[in-house]
Amino acid sequence: MEFKELGKSAQKIPVLGLGTWGIGGFSSRILRGDDEEVQALRSGLELGMRFIDTAEMYARGHSEEVVAKAVKSERENVFIATKVSPEHLSYNNVIKSCEASLGRLGTNYIDLYQVHWPNPSIPIAETMKAMERLVADGKIRHIGVSNFSVQQTREAQEALSKSSLAANQVEYSLVDRSIEEDLLPFAQKGHVTIIAYSPVARGQIPQGGHGERWRVLDQIASKYGKTRTQVALNWLIAKDDVVAIPKAASLPHVEENAGAVGWRMSAEDYEALSRAFR
Ligand SMILES: NC(=O)c1ccc[n+]([C@@H]2O[C@H](COP(=O)([O-])OP(=O)(O)OC[C@H]3O[C@@H](n4cnc5c(N)ncnc54)[C@H](OP(=O)(O)O)[C@@H]3O)[C@@H](O)[C@H]2O)c1
Repeated sequence: MEFKELGKSAQKIPVLGLGTWGIGGFSSRILRGDDEEVQALRSGLELGMRFIDTAEMYARGHSEEVVAKAVKSERENVFIATKVSPEHLSYNNVIKSCEASLGRLGTNYIDLYQVHWPNPSIPIAETMKAMERLVADGKIRHIGVSNFSVQQTREAQEALSKSSLAANQVEYSLVDRSIEEDLLPFAQKGHVTIIAYSPVARGQIPQGGHGERWRVLDQIASKYGKTRTQVALNWLIAKDDVVAIPKAASLPHVEENAGAVGWRMSAEDYEALSRAFR
């Protein structure tokens, strides 16, 4: 596995993590038995993807419970990121949500606690004050946000007095390049880690399509003996301060995605791919 520093901290995190939206259910709890998903997550951990991303919102908390089953006795060796929902961003609710996530995750600390979406009706300073309280109490190790614009990220940073903002989790893939306009350069300059979500464009990249861009992707994939998905993930993690969290519900997909690390394409191929998907 390759690692990158998380934000400006000394903490190193794997460049590929395990996404859990849909694990244990989507917007409702599915309690049909989680064996397959637990197995997929465990295999991801064994393959070195020792970074799991979840949220209190996923499957109404059941996703965190599935993560707990997968991590079990290995807690110290896994970097766990979860998120507080936008309706819970008042000081007291952040503290309450964190306690509830700790309970479901079966742990006494969260490595990265992220604000899932901004909520303009609650001042970010109030939310960040609660986040710093949680750091002081040892309940969370690092503070992050998700779906924050440059301006919102700046406001979150300015609201922190003792910690620095570690990460912003946003949509980023070959297919969705919108953060390249301003957020990506801003984050790289200030060393805020970009955690790329939907990095295989919710399945669009493996399914692919026809036309010039897909031809270029296929050509590069065959040159390096890799799949479309592996090339697309490699393209992301080759960038400074960017890590990616493809969904990890299926064992074959997790195994394939792990093959996105440990190699690099040539600068020319990298550029050709960037141009093709511009
Ligand atoms: N912060 C946020 O607001 C936010 C929003 C969205 C997502 N996220 C996080 O980011 C993670 C990933 O995003 P995502 O789930 O939206 O999208 P994604 O990982 O880009 O795509 C998931 C889809 O791609 C398929 N897939 C994954 N790897 C594959 C492979 N190697 N070959 C073929 N198909 C493959 C999955 O199928 P299977 O289900 O069959 O494996 C699923 O249909 C989420 O799980 C979640 O943790 C965060």
